Amino acid sequence: MTSGLTIVGKRDAKLEELVRASGQVTAVTWLADLSTLVDAKAAQPDVLLVDVRQCGGVPPQLATLKRQHPATNVVLLAATLDPTVMLEGMRAGVSECIAEPLCQDDVNAALTRLLGHQAKGPDGPVFAFVGAKGGVGTTTTAVNVATTLAKLSSGNTLLIDLHLAYGDAAVFLGADARFSVLDALENLHRLDLQFLKSLVCRTASGLDLLASADRPATRLLDVRRLGSVIQLAASQYAYTVLDVPRSDLTVLDSLDDVANLVVVANQELATVRNAGRMAAAMRARYPKTSVTTVINRMDGRSEINQQDVEKVVGGTIAHQVPSDYRRALLAMHKGRPLALDNHNQLAASFTALARDLAGLEDKKTVRAATGGFKGLLSGRR
Ligand SMILES: Nc1ncnc2c1ncn2[C@@H]1O[C@H](COP(=O)(O)OP(=O)(O)OP(=O)(O)O)[C@@H](O)[C@H]1O
Ligand SMILES: [Mg+2]
Repeated sequence: MTSGLTIVGKRDAKLEELVRASGQVTAVTWLADLSTLVDAKAAQPDVLLVDVRQCGGVPPQLATLKRQHPATNVVLLAATLDPTVMLEGMRAGVSECIAEPLCQDDVNAALTRLLGHQAKGPDGPVFAFVGAKGGVGTTTTAVNVATTLAKLSSGNTLLIDLHLAYGDAAVFLGADARFSVLDALENLHRLDLQFLKSLVCRTASGLDLLASADRPATRLLDVRRLGSVIQLAASQYAYTVLDVPRSDLTVLDSLDDVANLVVVANQELATVRNAGRMAAAMRARYPKTSVTTVINRMDGRSEINQQDVEKVVGGTIAHQVPSDYRRALLAMHKGRPLALDNHNQLAASFTALARDLAGLEDKKTVRAATGGFKGLLSGRR
């Protein structure tokens, strides 16, 4: 375990000794103020201890820092547990408060609570799905890939419906979510792992869902901060999957943490053209992200074949999902993702796509490809 702690305040040998003696941190650094940590790109310590014993009040920059870096754990050290200072601290996003007289037990307890929490969070990859056109099956694909990943990770997968309002992912999962991604954006100052967990709903398939809202936003929101929500989710989940609205440019601009962005297309001329443009724009905006395309509702008799689509989108299409409207619709109506059922090509395609994204080899798929059963177990070529 390596955990860094930064103390903001006047150097105090006794405080440093208590922190080091807690056995919870491996490195302690000191800063006079928060200015170098506030920037959105500034590297963050695992724990930030803000010593306000001398100045009394919580530094105004702290709330800004927490908005930029919701995952940063903050401990406030005050002269006394004065309710006004504690309230100020809570509003700024402080997780723990300790006060004089300083003692080892208090320091240990605060750091154990924070770092114990953090130790559970794997920084898992984030996969985003965006449709080249409306109705191509983006939500179907995102939901089923996420469901497969939830199975593979024993439930440690989160699907975020990034349609801020009126998205459909909850319907596909038979979920009745009380809170939404809008609640996260409306309460950015409170956003930490605990708060995120309270907004998430566990669905019947074992997948966690941060749903879309069934109401419009009540005030102007800083949608650009969605990136912080995604980052925080990734710090906690083995896999985070995003259902991305194609027409919301601010959301499309918040995908810096995405490892793989999948453009979902079909074989209609307008969709293929949009897929090409979308893939090119995403590659230019996110040079470190792998941008690929899948064809949903694959039609082997279509005038536009796989090679045509590959030429337009620039890259191999490794996954084609067969068309099975009856089965897809039934799954949606039942609120039970297709990927939970085996022995059909749709489910096998989504499973293969999920395994491919996660870098997990599927022995059955390998055997199928070499043993003459190609296409039966997966939609991979
Ligand atoms: N492989 C498939 N075969 C047949 N029907 C499918 C398939 N995938 C999705 N569908 C159906 O297509 C319809 C649209 O799917 P979905 O809601 O996933 O699309 P979307 O791209 O997310 O739409 P929107 O643009 O409204 O968000 C649904 O009725 C769904 O059941
Ligand atoms: Mg959708």
